[in-house]
Amino acid sequence: MNNRYNEKIEKLLSSMTIDEKIGQTNMLGGSIYTELDTSQIDGMLRDGLVGSIMYMCPQTNNKLQRKNLQLSKSKIPILFCGDIIHGVRTIFPIPLAESCSWLPQLAYETSKAAALEGTALGCKWTFAPMADIVCDARWGRVMESSGEDKLLASDFVAARVKGFQGTDRNNIDSTHMASCIKHFTGYGSSEGGRDYNSVTLSKQQLDNRILPPYKSGIDAGAVTVMTAFNDINGTPCTVNNILLDETLRKSWGFDGVIVSDYNSLKEAVIHKYCSDDVDAVISGINATLDIDMMSKLYITHIKQLIDNGKLSINQLDDIVRRILLLKYRVEIMDNPYTDETLQNTNIATPQTLELAYESCVNSIVLLKNDNRTLPIVNKKIYLTGPFTDDKRNLNGNWSYYNNVEQNITVKQALSTRNAELVSNINDCDVIIYCGGHTNEQCGEAASMVNIELPHIQQQEIIELSKYNKPIVLVINAGRPLALASIADYCSGILFTWHLGTRAGDGIADILIGNYCPRGKLTMSFPHYSGQCPIYYSEITTGRPANADKYTSKYIDSPIGPMYPFGYGLSYTKIEYSNITLKTNSITAKDNIYISVTVKNSGKYATREIIQAYCSKQFNKPIRPKKELIGYESVELQIGESKTITMEIPACNLMYKHQDNSGKYDIYVGKDSNCGIIGTITFSN
Ligand code: BGC
Repeated sequence: MNNRYNEKIEKLLSSMTIDEKIGQTNMLGGSIYTELDTSQIDGMLRDGLVGSIMYMCPQTNNKLQRKNLQLSKSKIPILFCGDIIHGVRTIFPIPLAESCSWLPQLAYETSKAAALEGTALGCKWTFAPMADIVCDARWGRVMESSGEDKLLASDFVAARVKGFQGTDRNNIDSTHMASCIKHFTGYGSSEGGRDYNSVTLSKQQLDNRILPPYKSGIDAGAVTVMTAFNDINGTPCTVNNILLDETLRKSWGFDGVIVSDYNSLKEAVIHKYCSDDVDAVISGINATLDIDMMSKLYITHIKQLIDNGKLSINQLDDIVRRILLLKYRVEIMDNPYTDETLQNTNIATPQTLELAYESCVNSIVLLKNDNRTLPIVNKKIYLTGPFTDDKRNLNGNWSYYNNVEQNITVKQALSTRNAELVSNINDCDVIIYCGGHTNEQCGEAASMVNIELPHIQQQEIIELSKYNKPIVLVINAGRPLALASIADYCSGILFTWHLGTRAGDGIADILIGNYCPRGKLTMSFPHYSGQCPIYYSEITTGRPANADKYTSKYIDSPIGPMYPFGYGLSYTKIEYSNITLKTNSITAKDNIYISVTVKNSGKYATREIIQAYCSKQFNKPIRPKKELIGYESVELQIGESKTITMEIPACNLMYKHQDNSGKYDIYVGKDSNCGIIGTITFSN
């Protein structure tokens, strides 16, 4: 290990007993405050058995820290941590929603703002960002991801790491916190979209579709990584030496801390991979897993295993070095307490609330807008549905620390904007139905086989359609939904995700035309649940789907997604012209240049996301039929025209561990269904 804290770490390490060293590997939950009595807690502190605690409350934590520094011999501060995924008191849009902005810079800003609030509550380590690639909307945790595409997800992950940690990963200052790339690896590919389930991935998929976003987080400086609950190809990730030691540490040069997921070390036994708890501990240590979250196996077994020679003290020392380095990096060694006054100044500031609004309006995706039903201007609105005035379920799944009362609902926001809301449906010009999912219908342990709008909501919409008024369906949800059964009843569909504190303001401004929708999907939406998993970058088959019966498709569903990756409508009209591929041949060190003119010929200012894709003409093994290689976000005033030159590094179309030479078709346009503009030859 070679870092600026070496000397201090070595000095401290040499003064620690083996029990104190083992104690550093132990992560406990906030339940210790309720489950243990004072003498039990004091005993653990005295023996140095508490390394980190998942809990955020400055008063309670400061009190415990004070005791820890009095009672323990080594006087190493406890690291307080937690899941800050999309905000703390101010809730930002869920990460999947925010990725629909295609603005990594926005994710940087919201992560930085979340770190400001989180550190005011004493948290110095968040378990975010999630870097899992997701293509199965049955999996509830897609909400926490940046979608199905590796390039876009990589950019978002890197931005979030920097937002949480700040500019110097070795001095993560008082308003920033350590980030954690999770869940390493492949948790988003669990079979059947079922949480905690097994994962099987080919080497090509792993190297070129699944690993890149994790690697991007490491390259951005993330100081910690969390292992995934799942196995990959038969080895549970938490004890996976190839992934953790060989790939992450040796090949990628990661010098930080690896933490297990919640109890996942013990679950290596339940997986039937390890024969017993002792085997799990040996496997974990041999895989260089540093911190055991919640299972207590490390504190129970390491000492004996070192005594009987099954593990070496050097292995433990290396682990403790990395944990101490983390504690130095987040500066708790010198500043172990949280300034309790920060709760008055750093929480829900006007800037943070404004940022939450920015993020909301950029995350919303307009899916359908027949007869220009939206925006609703000078029309009488009948507002109905379960989420018109529900503050709590605007938040999404990771929102435990939010002050729900400060959230703005759609009803509140429309009322303050003087929209004309009528109480008799017969008097209205348009119906707005706010439907979707609750916070609990998304997130962890919320896999579903049916991802349609809940049946009762569909029935209500069908009843409303009998009034022959246009219906605008506003969908509050944490995952893509299968909308084939209900879309025909609606003239407009606005997918608003779980947007958090300023949800109502953002939604209302888009509904009434104060803001032009511009978000574009980062997960494909199926027509029916049974199409999952569905993603644009699927591998080409020998019988691509077409009208012919014997091709790769379902006989009871249209071919392809209902709304493709990259799709999103606007109130204005964006025209593409003069799309020119300026590069014909490249090598690995070159860029591809594409020039595009985009013109806003409609009546609303907006931002357009120009997308570029490639498709390798043939490859061994086969590559996906299309892959995103670049995107550009362009602000356009009414009537404005801009010519953009996209500069795309050749590495964006290259695959790892393969001969990349050959011909690539290049596509450019508004979404992943865009057309071909030319061909490039790549040579080594
Ligand atoms: C989740 C992690 C989370 C951890 C701690 C687990 O169940 O999978 O993503 O960070 O709990 O809350």
